[in-house]
Amino acid sequence: MRESLQLKLEVRELEGAEAFATYYDLRWRVLREPWAQLRESERDEHEADAIHLGCWLSGRLIGVGRLHFNSAEEAQIRYMAVEPGFAGRGVGGTLLRELERRAAESGAARVVLDARESANGFYEKHGYRILGFAGLLFDQIPHWKMAKDVGSCKTGLPAGPAFFA
Ligand SMILES: CC(C)(COP(=O)(O)OP(=O)(O)OC[C@H]1O[C@@H](n2cnc3c(N)ncnc32)[C@H](O)[C@@H]1OP(=O)(O)O)[C@@H](O)C(=O)NCCC(=O)NCCS
Repeated sequence: MRESLQLKLEVRELEGAEAFATYYDLRWRVLREPWAQLRESERDEHEADAIHLGCWLSGRLIGVGRLHFNSAEEAQIRYMAVEPGFAGRGVGGTLLRELERRAAESGAARVVLDARESANGFYEKHGYRILGFAGLLFDQIPHWKMAKDVGSCKTGLPAGPAFFA
């Protein structure tokens, strides 16, 4: 089942106003609406300089993820979201691998992220390790700081909250 789905998945960068509207709608529905957050709360200050990836199945956007750079060596992934009906079928993993590939290709040594506790297992399966507690989003969703070395240059990980500021 998963193999046949993956063969049909198309992962590429978002282009055009219509595609971005669908992309932000998916981010909002999966990551913000269940917590009664307003539209546009699914965006931050890195939208203009980030890499926005989408995963399409037969022309339908079913998964998204975003990459930005905190420094030349450190890239950060945010807003991973898969349409609930398609979760657990390899879409998130496909997106995550492509985001990591692009981070490494651009010279990053590591990828960092703040994972929802419910997604820790997903990131651990992809080689991320937990660095520490990141806090509660909306006073209720626990997040954990995680990181993975992706470059040939393994510099080690600085510790402490300033690393993620
Ligand atoms: C988390 C999320 C992005 C994962 O995407 P997905 O398409 O469901 O994941 P995949 O099907 O690619 O899973 C890849 C592997 O991780 C595992 N996995 C997925 N979600 C998991 C979870 N929450 N806990 C443990 N393992 C998980 C899968 O079983 C699979 O392992 P396998 O290859 O050994 O079978 C997606 O489920 C999602 O959008 N969740 C809601 C929003 C969210 O939490 N986003 C992350 C914010 S940090």
